[in-house]
Amino acid sequence: MTQPASTTDATFAALESEVRRAAAQLASAEAVENFRLDWLGRKQGRLKRLSESLLASAAIEEKKQIGQRFNALKTLVEAELETALERTRGSLWSDQSLRRERIDVTLPGTRRQIGAEHPITRTMNELVAIFAALGYSVGVGPQVETDYYNFESMNFPPGHPARDTQDTLVVAGQQRRAPRDRLLLRTHTSPVQMRTMEQQPPPVRIVIPGKVHRNDAADATHSPVFHQVEGLCVDKGITFSDLKGTLDHAMKALFGSSVRTRFFPSFFPFTEPSADVQISCIFCVGKGCRRCKQSGWIELLGCGMVDPAVFAFAAEKQPAYDPRLISGFAFGMGVERIAMMKYGIREIGQFYSGDMRFLEQFA
Ligand code: PHE
Repeated sequence: MTQPASTTDATFAALESEVRRAAAQLASAEAVENFRLDWLGRKQGRLKRLSESLLASAAIEEKKQIGQRFNALKTLVEAELETALERTRGSLWSDQSLRRERIDVTLPGTRRQIGAEHPITRTMNELVAIFAALGYSVGVGPQVETDYYNFESMNFPPGHPARDTQDTLVVAGQQRRAPRDRLLLRTHTSPVQMRTMEQQPPPVRIVIPGKVHRNDAADATHSPVFHQVEGLCVDKGITFSDLKGTLDHAMKALFGSSVRTRFFPSFFPFTEPSADVQISCIFCVGKGCRRCKQSGWIELLGCGMVDPAVFAFAAEKQPAYDPRLISGFAFGMGVERIAMMKYGIREIGQFYSGDMRFLEQFA
């Protein structure tokens, strides 16, 4: 029986690809040896059987061509065998005992990435540490707050226009509650002043770091979620001088001893008198630049003497908050604003983006 040339071609092509595929999968010395016997074995090898069957049935004029293809196939098998032998000899896995022990002790260990403080947390901790050194303790309160603590007890009466200065995010479905019990996201950390005074009689020295929310549109310097550090000091004979000295010291501790402070009249319902604190511009050292709008001063926080009306609310639970006997001051500052100044950050959104390239700079 003779075969057309194209069939011979197809037969050899299939055999060659079979050889290549099988050889590529040889992973051990035994497998290579089996492969050798399978193809090149003198008695039962496939090449031996193939040569017999093909050549026996071929016509004379085909024999030369078949012979050439056959020799090429044999060369391929030998070359593949050589490569596989080389490969398995070089491989540790051809050693049975090592193959069972599949631990490569030379691999590097699992590296744990060491975390770092977020710049906001770091700035808050720094502020807390400055006041801790002055004998202040740390207080916290809920972020979901009642109208009473956030506004009413801080001397923002219901419907009072001062409430409009802190555009508020309220919790839905509160209509059946009494107005003072309705829940909202606290717009400042000041409600923790009242929570603290209700818990303990004077003297009080406390700093309150925390998250606050306002219904403000986000831009380069505003975010609806931000952070504040609040302070409250109540004792016998606390004066505005104590407030000035404390904040002047804190700003020097934060920005360096050459920083100066000045106090401008302002208004907050819960302090009287109230002031805005400005520091000399840390960028131009007071000369006037774009960052301080050529004024040489940058406004950084609000403060004032605790309003007697606030003490009256505290006295409902702690009668010792009698404004005839004690006095106090309070202050509140935005952490993002301070961190942006300290680290030269121009976009508030960078704090919240979770971009490692930004955050790693603080590691
Ligand atoms: N709670 C005020 C605010 O968020 C800041 C402040 C705190 C002012 C304490 C005076 C005293 O704007």
